[in-house]
Amino acid sequence: MEFPSELKNQIELNTSQWAISELKKASESITKRYKNESGKGKRLVTNKLDAAVYSVVRMPATFAAVYEAISHTLEVVGDEYDIKTLLDVGAGTGAAVWAADCQLELDGITCLEREMEMSALGKEFMKLGSPALKNAEWVSYDISRPEFPYNADLVTAAYVLNELPESQRIDTIKKLWKSANKILIIIEPGTPDGFLQLRKARDILLKDGAHIAAPCPHENRCKISTEDWCHFTARVQRSKLHKMLKGGDSPFEDEKYSYMAFVHTDIKINGSRILRHPYTNKGKISLELCSESENTTAVITKRQGEFFKIVKKLKCGDLLPE
Ligand SMILES: C[S@@+](CC[C@H](N)C(=O)[O-])C[C@H]1O[C@@H](n2cnc3c(N)ncnc32)[C@H](O)[C@@H]1O
Repeated sequence: MEFPSELKNQIELNTSQWAISELKKASESITKRYKNESGKGKRLVTNKLDAAVYSVVRMPATFAAVYEAISHTLEVVGDEYDIKTLLDVGAGTGAAVWAADCQLELDGITCLEREMEMSALGKEFMKLGSPALKNAEWVSYDISRPEFPYNADLVTAAYVLNELPESQRIDTIKKLWKSANKILIIIEPGTPDGFLQLRKARDILLKDGAHIAAPCPHENRCKISTEDWCHFTARVQRSKLHKMLKGGDSPFEDEKYSYMAFVHTDIKINGSRILRHPYTNKGKISLELCSESENTTAVITKRQGEFFKIVKKLKCGDLLPE
């Protein structure tokens, strides 16, 4: 799914009030802050310039990751889940909400965010979107507050858990789950740390009676070794401005993300999740798979005819049908 062009144009228009040198400096400083100060509950993006830079360097990538996570989840849960309302927690400038809006017919959106400049910009961007985006309610809210009087059919928390201090994470996961009428999707960076958060969320919520819709095709012990991490990759087109701020001239970036989608009822998942980029060589496709009994490597050959043709179109993160 392409990043919405009206959003891309508005992001660029908004940044035109600053010189490139100012944007670049702010970008370097945000990168440093995220590297050294994330996970401690610190405020990382607090002014207009930082919010604008965040929107250029991160929105396309988080949009792509969240889009894929939602899409894989919807593929498993099917149409009967009929998602009408969305609660996005730690909404930032709204990338996750745009990703949800592209694939759901929403009639109610709530965005919770504690940084005024992030929500102001997110709100501004949403004026260009669908009626649901235009009418989204933005609430100035800190997730660490004990009361959590919100709920929706789908609750998303993208790249937020890793910003909270360790001591608040379990509580937050439980609050998010309680507020999800139908589905909770947590998306984190595709790093060992990001995945560790999700592994913990998996353990906690399975004990609380939740079921997993994606990416795991089972609810047994996760068989990813402790040195490894389950993650997927979304390929994102880079704008000229992105290249100027982040350097390099590759036309795309590969956003690595991990996610976990929880639902209230047990779902039969027909297939195995493809964990790595499929390797194709001389009429054979090797796939690393997560499946109910064990994680395995499967080799599909041309001799398997139609099935081979189906598999050829699959990528990392897709389900290999049974
Ligand atoms: C990395 S950004 C992700 C934004 C958005 N979800 C996305 O995917 O583009 C994390 C967001 O979480 C917000 N955040 C961090 N801690 C928070 C808290 N305690 N309460 C509310 N929002 C918080 C930050 O202000 C920031 O906007």
